Amino acid sequence: MTVTASRSASHTSLLQSTARATLSSAMTRSYHSDDRVFQKLRAAGKTSWDEQADPNASFDQFILRPFLEASLTALNRPLRDLAALEFGCGSGPASCFLAARGLKVRGIDVAPTALEMARENAAQRGLHIRFDSADICQLTDEPDRYDLIIDGHCLHCIVREDHRRDALTAIHRLLKPEGLLLIECMIAHPDLVVKGNYRIDEWGVLSIKVEDSAGVEGAFESDGGWFAPHRRLRTAEQLLAELTGAGFAIHYQHARQQSDSRKPMLMRIRAGR
Ligand SMILES: C[S@@+](CC[C@H](N)C(=O)[O-])C[C@H]1O[C@@H](n2cnc3c(N)ncnc32)[C@H](O)[C@@H]1O
Repeated sequence: MTVTASRSASHTSLLQSTARATLSSAMTRSYHSDDRVFQKLRAAGKTSWDEQADPNASFDQFILRPFLEASLTALNRPLRDLAALEFGCGSGPASCFLAARGLKVRGIDVAPTALEMARENAAQRGLHIRFDSADICQLTDEPDRYDLIIDGHCLHCIVREDHRRDALTAIHRLLKPEGLLLIECMIAHPDLVVKGNYRIDEWGVLSIKVEDSAGVEGAFESDGGWFAPHRRLRTAEQLLAELTGAGFAIHYQHARQQSDSRKPMLMRIRAGR
């Protein structure tokens, strides 16, 4: 893995004086930056997260769609009225896709602009979807509620070890015993290149350059700029171990390169309890 990482003296001493697990769980970032992405998308007349990076993406042709289609086929059950939860639903492309196929869908997100866009997108399609402002790490609803739980690039947004544990515990509790968890997640790999506006540390905490570090937990200085923890890039093996450690059985896994092979790979996982 090619890593560009330099740190301020205070960050370095924090590194040296803190146990590894404690350090990585002490680093997070406010989620406000993701909402700013949705604000910019909306101002540009765009409707979904994927449209930022992929010129071929649209609200209906979202990146996760082929995996969802294949997974619904693999479910081999009538879809009507199956209960689905999408955490980190963003502006709702996957939630709308599922609702249009007859599932009863609830989408949750922590970004207010994303939720406003999701409600607008569902209303324009005549779809009834419950979109709630909620953090998957703190979801304490009653157990065994969902036949399907989906993650379209949210799990890698959860940086801290304790938050990730809380999220996986909640997902495990909410999934019905015969239910299916679908994940698409960025992962680290040996050819990963991190430079410019990004830094990565030895625990896979990917940080991004920020204008203002005030109040941002885990912010550090590097090469004259401020960086803040942004994403968590496990390797494939680490991600699978994290899921099995949280009690999930892995049914399917596939990792693929993005068009630029120096970027994080994308891993697709189907899992159950
Ligand atoms: C990369 S975006 C993907 C959005 C959407 N799934 C899509 O594919 O268009 C990740 C989303 O996860 C949300 N998110 C991050 N952490 C979250 C958390 N702890 N609970 C719920 N949503 C979260 C962000 O606000 C953001 O909308």
